[in-house]
Amino acid sequence: MHDNAPSHATKNTSESLAAMGIKGNKLMVWPPSSPDLNPIENLWKIIKHKIYEGGRPFTSKQQLWEEILTSCKEIQAETLQKPTSPMDARIVKVIAKKGSYVNISENAEEQRIVMVLDHPGGDRINSQRHRLVHLQSICGQIIMAAPISSPQTYINEFNSKDYFETYYAAGSGMMIGEWTDFVLRNLHETFTIGGIRGDTLLDFGTGPTIYQLLSACEVFDKIIVSDFLEQNRAELQKWLKKDPDAFDWTHIIKFVCELEGNREDYEKKAEKLRSKVKEVLKCDALKRNPYDPVVVPPVDCLLSCLCLEAACKDIKSFCEVLKNFKDLIKPGGHIVLISALNSTYYYVGKTYFGSMCTKKEELEAAFKEAGYQIEKKRCILHVWINQ
Ligand SMILES: C[S@@+](CC[C@H](N)C(=O)[O-])C[C@H]1O[C@@H](n2cnc3c(N)ncnc32)[C@H](O)[C@@H]1O
Repeated sequence: MHDNAPSHATKNTSESLAAMGIKGNKLMVWPPSSPDLNPIENLWKIIKHKIYEGGRPFTSKQQLWEEILTSCKEIQAETLQKPTSPMDARIVKVIAKKGSYVNISENAEEQRIVMVLDHPGGDRINSQRHRLVHLQSICGQIIMAAPISSPQTYINEFNSKDYFETYYAAGSGMMIGEWTDFVLRNLHETFTIGGIRGDTLLDFGTGPTIYQLLSACEVFDKIIVSDFLEQNRAELQKWLKKDPDAFDWTHIIKFVCELEGNREDYEKKAEKLRSKVKEVLKCDALKRNPYDPVVVPPVDCLLSCLCLEAACKDIKSFCEVLKNFKDLIKPGGHIVLISALNSTYYYVGKTYFGSMCTKKEELEAAFKEAGYQIEKKRCILHVWINQ
């Protein structure tokens, strides 16, 4: 593994590495101008300190080479573990900082900085979202791109409180800012102005979150929320019952109230949503009838945010789920889907969950194959109509 610095990527170096058998899949692909996450850099620094300890001068190349060999032999296993063992935490920090500066050393004296400037393809990275995707693609290589996580992994390892903290905490959550701004504005347009309304809205894979329902609660009489995980359903119940331990959504609720022109009424808005949520159900996307044994009468609108890419292993199973959803939606009703494109995984606290990596065109094709008509598309937000 090297960081693509020009000295490592020259023809001579590449040929020498190849001659030693370090080529093809034995050499990690590392995009240019990417975060400097190589622990070897820390080791070089330690070795340089050893060699030049006390300002010792060298009078010949041979003398320097011998000192390099001696210094390397003196390196103990613990010294190697120090820069390599916090790698996972380092990657998490870089992602949490959205590709910006991080202190990647546990030791304050050894501060270094990392920053992402350019997309591997040469495009300027001009948004947090792009940076995040870029970092995910880099880190995906480091952690060997997680496969889709099993239901049991979700049951055992998805920590709802970590999910809140990682993505939705006021000020620090990764979704706060560009993402929530985009999603909430589009949901506002879709429901409050866009005319998608009716008797019942079914939210599939709600998770422990309620942000996605704040606009919908103005135009639907009833809302059913549902998630695969008991811990997420418990968090939803806490918020509905105003449990003091529930996550505080005030910052998000105020933002939606502002979009609707009445920022002061955020407490009323929260009450309205609480009064509209009539059921909290268990769902499983991988079942032919996701609510079995509960019978859910067809609804006017099915909403699903960031769930299907977590549950489906590939676009084929995604398409199957969409076909199954048709029984849950009235003819002429809508499905509103929020998806993260090109993402191979996401993390909750320090636990990684696989994500089905999709492209916009693949999603469109899957919706068409499942028999939906596309009504409206927004970069990451899709609205489809059940034919
Ligand atoms: C990334 S979270 C999205 C949560 C929330 N909708 C949001 O927008 O933040 C993925 C959700 O998918 C749910 N999930 C995972 N496997 C599932 C399955 N087989 N059926 C239904 N939901 C599933 C998880 O419980 C989790 O709540």
